[in-house]
Amino acid sequence: MTPGRFQSFEGVADDYDQTRVIPAAQLEEIARLLSREAHLDRGGLFLDAGVGTGRFAAPLAHLCPAQVIGADVAPAMMARVASKAPQGSLSLVQADLQRLPFRAGAFSGALLVHILHLIEQWPLVLRELHRVLVPHKGCLFLGVEQGGRSALVDFYYERARARHALAASLGSPGLAPVLTHLRRVERAGGAGAQVVQMETPALSWKRVVPVAATLEALSGRTYSQMWDIPDAVHAALLAETRHQARRMPRGLDSVETLSSRFVLYKAWWG
Ligand SMILES: C[S@@+](CC[C@H](N)C(=O)[O-])C[C@H]1O[C@@H](n2cnc3c(N)ncnc32)[C@H](O)[C@@H]1O
Repeated sequence: MTPGRFQSFEGVADDYDQTRVIPAAQLEEIARLLSREAHLDRGGLFLDAGVGTGRFAAPLAHLCPAQVIGADVAPAMMARVASKAPQGSLSLVQADLQRLPFRAGAFSGALLVHILHLIEQWPLVLRELHRVLVPHKGCLFLGVEQGGRSALVDFYYERARARHALAASLGSPGLAPVLTHLRRVERAGGAGAQVVQMETPALSWKRVVPVAATLEALSGRTYSQMWDIPDAVHAALLAETRHQARRMPRGLDSVETLSSRFVLYKAWWG
């Protein structure tokens, strides 16, 4: 399998953090879980694969003595990381996850959050991550944020779908095929992974989000499925979504309360 296409977030770095908010308490809890499960209290190397703006890598670098490495294709995203992490504890590498510039067996753990839907040949990424993990001990963590989506974003997407304007994911259509892929390899008797969902009772939260902020995020197309929608169609969809927002009890001054949870899977090759 040769590396294929992927979607870099280089163009949306300015808006990314405002539209993907996880409260600090939950980010710290995720860092604690990763540190505990990958034994990072003993040091070692941890890879945040597709580090983006460092939402997960920065709290981890604050918490544990391990050296955290963030890899991403988008320098503009990674430029946001430096101010968040203590100096020297986090290194950034511009790299395609399909061809990692790291030696085999180097990392105690690696994290993937919201990446594989962006990469056409996503199994290659899993193969690369397996290669760079410490044999038999290194863990791959796969995280996903569930819920938390505004009714207005759903409205925009439904209308876009009805116009056949919403692109399918370039990569994996969700986490389920990724877990199946990891487990299928295991059943075939190869070097397959065991996969478990971790207990994460503390990883639920609610957020109050102004409708105006949601409309701004939609307007700036920070969500990758929106990038290929033609400008004229996007403008029409935005106008319809604004109209829908005006029908809410307080119109454009309304807020939505969004409930989210973070689900974390751990995979390892015994
Ligand atoms: C949705 S963001 C997720 C970032 C971070 N994991 C988080 O959850 O905040 C996806 C990131 O993957 C990066 N990306 C996409 N394709 C990539 C590839 N082939 N190699 C490395 N990074 C890639 C994008 O540039 C972007 O920063």
